[in-house]
Amino acid sequence: MQPLINKAITILQRGGLVAIPTETVYGLGADAKNPAALRKIFQAKQRPIDHPLIVHLASMSQLNEWASTVSPLAQRLGEAFWPGPLTLILPKAPHVLDLVTGNQLTVGLRIPCHPVAQALLQLFGSGIAAPSANRFGRISPTTAAAVREELGATVDLVLDGGQCEVGVESTIVDVSGEYPVILRPGMITAAQIEAVLHTVLRQQKKNAPRVSGSLATHYAPLTPTKLMPKTEILAFLRTVTAADFPLVLLLRSPLSILEKGVEFILMAEDPKQYAHDLYATLRSLDQKNFKQIVIEAVPDNNRWDAIRDRLNRASSPG
Ligand code: TXA
Ligand code: MG
Repeated sequence: MQPLINKAITILQRGGLVAIPTETVYGLGADAKNPAALRKIFQAKQRPIDHPLIVHLASMSQLNEWASTVSPLAQRLGEAFWPGPLTLILPKAPHVLDLVTGNQLTVGLRIPCHPVAQALLQLFGSGIAAPSANRFGRISPTTAAAVREELGATVDLVLDGGQCEVGVESTIVDVSGEYPVILRPGMITAAQIEAVLHTVLRQQKKNAPRVSGSLATHYAPLTPTKLMPKTEILAFLRTVTAADFPLVLLLRSPLSILEKGVEFILMAEDPKQYAHDLYATLRSLDQKNFKQIVIEAVPDNNRWDAIRDRLNRASSPG
């Protein structure tokens, strides 16, 4: 891996794009201080230019280079969860480019724990801006093969770090305002954050800063996808016509009666494993020409928040 990491550093220094494995999903990385390189990210992803990017750092000692203030609360969250699947929104340092912040006064910072991302960031020594390495609106890649499928030749190098451990994007907490707010749920749960902060989090404000992951149709498979409680699935199957087939169910436990010809995939009962498998499963289903994906709704507790959020978007009619 070391020769490839050296090659990645050269590419980043010359303003190129490197796909980076992280513990959540693969990122499409560029030098966060190089405007020309950042523009390539937006082109490759076909992402609107005003959607802010997360800057990835090797360690908390770099925070003050990118944030103008790091509140005690931000410090506590960082110490508790970094390196790991957490992004903090902080007041930006003066030099941080508008291309990174989407013209806002804040910057998203994350210290990933994947060993390849860590090795790269440590050697690079500065911030790497990296959105998820998918085309805008699509499912984030959790394998190197999925990155190539999404972005092809627009990436100069894909570092293969295996399948991502967490499987869904980081929890984003805005700590730039008066109260901390979760902007995007992830596998670090609201309860875990509350336990560290000794406070109850407020509901997200409607006019919270732009988060493209908060668009209704984000993270969507190409195949039409429905989400419903298990009790409704059998009733639904009675209403489908030949035009809905082939159809596939994503279940968490087997259905007692399954009509002939209905394929199903049994997902894990545990949210950690479910999240790990989710995008890879949806991606593989997209390649099988199903007319319809029907997903069994997941439990209503906060260990499932991130998954429920992604499933709602995957099944949103747009
Ligand atoms: O797990 C992750 O966070 C992955 C890996 C690669 O680190 N990255 C990721 O990036 O999901 P992206 O760009 O797909 O999603 C990051 C979200 C975007 O929706 C963006 O709008 C939001 O973070 N964001 C970034 N900076 C922000 C800011 N200053 N204020 C509000 N939202 C911000
Ligand atoms: Mg994304």
